[in-house]
Amino acid sequence: MIGKLNHLAIAVPDLAAGARLYRDTLGAQVSEPLPLPEHGVTTVFVTLPNTQIELLHPLGADSPIAKFLEKNPSGGIHHICYEVQDIQAAAQRLRRDGARILGDGEPKIGAHGKPVLFLHPKDFCGALVELEQA
Ligand code: CO
Repeated sequence: MIGKLNHLAIAVPDLAAGARLYRDTLGAQVSEPLPLPEHGVTTVFVTLPNTQIELLHPLGADSPIAKFLEKNPSGGIHHICYEVQDIQAAAQRLRRDGARILGDGEPKIGAHGKPVLFLHPKDFCGALVELEQA
């Protein structure tokens, strides 16, 4: 069911410092910061030959990233995103198998304008999983 690794998201306490680290120290191609108020994050995209890394920083009062950074003040891997062909079919299969889809269980439009859903980390080896319709 899952296809390519679309991105790995890393929550960072300092977006400029994170961007510098990836651009200057690791020598990667790094975007300008992109505020996504409807998702409560500002992101920097790091483009690698085979996938992307997203640096996430909280934006606004009830950002989903803020709590994560409270628990992980120096930042950390926040989620991993796999591509699927058909998000509704994926959701149906996951519900059938008893996996918990976060929120109301319905796919939402994600940070890239495509339908996504998030799966409970406790059902997936302790990692928050995002599925994105490719
Ligand atoms: Co993501």
